[in-house]
Formats: sequence, structure tokens, C-alpha cells
Amino acid sequence: MNRLDGKVALVSGAARGIGAETARLMAEAGAKVAIADVLDERGRDTVRAIESAGGEAMYTRLDVTREEDWNAAITAVTDRFGGLDILVNNAGVFLGMSLEEATLADWHRLCSVNLTGVFLGTKLSVPALRESGQHSGHGSAIVNLASVAGLVGSSNDPLYSMTKGGVTLFTKSAALEFARKGYRIRVNSIHPGTIDTDMGDQVLAIRARNLGTNDLEPARQQTLKRIPIGRMGTVTDIAKGIVFLASDDAGFMTGAGLVVDGGITAQ
Ligand SMILES: NC(=O)c1ccc[n+]([C@@H]2O[C@H](COP(=O)([O-])OP(=O)(O)OC[C@H]3O[C@@H](n4cnc5c(N)ncnc54)[C@H](O)[C@@H]3O)[C@@H](O)[C@H]2O)c1
Repeated sequence: MNRLDGKVALVSGAARGIGAETARLMAEAGAKVAIADVLDERGRDTVRAIESAGGEAMYTRLDVTREEDWNAAITAVTDRFGGLDILVNNAGVFLGMSLEEATLADWHRLCSVNLTGVFLGTKLSVPALRESGQHSGHGSAIVNLASVAGLVGSSNDPLYSMTKGGVTLFTKSAALEFARKGYRIRVNSIHPGTIDTDMGDQVLAIRARNLGTNDLEPARQQTLKRIPIGRMGTVTDIAKGIVFLASDDAGFMTGAGLVVDGGITAQ
């Protein structure tokens, strides 16, 4: 199950965190993977780690907010690997501010990565994904990183929640548009809970601040109490879900959201 043999994937924001682990698991599953990020050194390290484990990967610089970067990245990937079967819109930023603190500039910065980045990536990948979808049993695939904050409200970061809610419904709408047009491109989202990454640390720091301390431990304990499974998620927990959604095993899934949150939103 969950094999990606012969497929080509582009993962945005794959220098570290969930994106890097997704790229690693995709290469392990047989895909050729493009790591696309603004963190060049870290991105090249991720490529080297995949290559030294016997996988095939490349690095391409991509600021997801820039149309010209997307065009260059997609061209670089299709030139090197001969097509594009999978796009993972993973790059994202967290704000960690209350409604009253956030400025218009903060909002624009957040939107440009979390929303504009997903729109541009999806739009500009369509020609390549459409082409490869015609020759694949279950079509090509897009996986968007939403969040549990795109399903239920967030008292700590309402603006982040607004962007992830947008990703949740954009996923469904893009899936429907492509199906209506007869394109063989499946589009699904994944909804992580609190995951142990750099962003996960930012989330804990904000929770600590809202508890009136700089010590992360009380915030970690508060977070753990809210997770029925009793632990934070790992990057591997999420990457496995992404690989599944990208694989032909999810061939009858489009417009769906896969919740991987240790039970947070079941409550
Ligand atoms: N960590 C969590 O708890 C959590 C929970 C729910 C959803 N998510 C989502 O999962 C995704 C990955 O998060 P993560 O925890 O691995 O975060 P992270 O901060 O560890 O990694 C994010 C990556 O995105 C890259 N990035 C940021 N802005 C970019 C831009 N303009 N262009 C290209 N790359 C850019 C960063 O350089 C980094 O490599 C994000 O979309 C995030 O919102 C994370």
C-alpha cells in the first residue's frame, strides 16, 4: 500500500518539519521528489539525506507567494524528472497573535503564504498535473496542508484559523472544479493537530505567553491534556497521511479532509 513508484512530487516548504518528512517518505515509497523552499541550505540538506538513503530528490528555490518562482520551480521539476504527478501545498506560517494585536501587514503576510501560496501552486501546476493525470490509473493528486484550526475555532490565533479554514474549503471547491472539467486531478486536505516541529514550538510559546509565563512546560501539559491520545503528533504521523492521499490507494478520494489530530476535534 501507499506506493508512489514512478511518480514525481513537488513539496513546498519541504526544507524542514512536516514537508521534509513527507519528501523523505515519498522518496522511500518510490517517488522522485522536489524539495521547494526559501531555506536553501536546509533544503539542500534534506535532498542530501534522501539521496544518501538511496532516493531521488532535487532542490528548487520557491517562495510560494511569487508567481514567477512557481513557474520556475515547476519547469525545473518537469525538466529534471519528466513530469509532475503530485503537488503538496505544505508551506505555511503561523502568526500567534490575537485579533487585537495583529496589524493589517501581519494579516497580508499570513495570507500571502497560507492562501495565495496555495492558490498559485494549484493554478500553476494544473497543466503538468492534467497531463500526467491522463496517463495514470487514478489521476494526479494535490494534498493541501490545512489544520484542525481550519475545522474548529482557535482562541489563540483566529487569523491563522481563518487562512486554514480557507484552505479547507478551497480544497473541496478545487476538487469539484477539476472533476466538473473532467481533469483527472484529485484534491484533498490533511488536518494536523499539534505537531512537534518548529511551528509546533511557536504554538507552545504562544500558549505559554497566554498562561503568563515564558516556561513552555505548563503549555505542553495543557496541550497534552486536550489530546485524547495523550501525546503530541510527530512529523511522521502527518507525512504518512499525506503519502496515502497522494497514492493511488486514495483513488476514490477527492474534496476530502483527513484529520490526524490524536482525537482533538472528536471532543
Ligand atoms: N506543526 C503543527 O502543529 C501544524 C499543525 C497544523 C497544520 N500545520 C501546517 O503544516 C504545514 C507545515 O508546518 P510545519 O509544522 O512543518 O512548519 P515549519 O515551520 O516547521 O515548516 C514550514 C516550512 O515552510 C517554509 N516556508 C515558509 N514560508 C514559505 C514561503 N513563502 N515559500 C516557501 N516555503 C516557505 C519554511 O521555510 C519551512 O521550511 C504548514 O502549512 C502548517 O500550517 C502544522
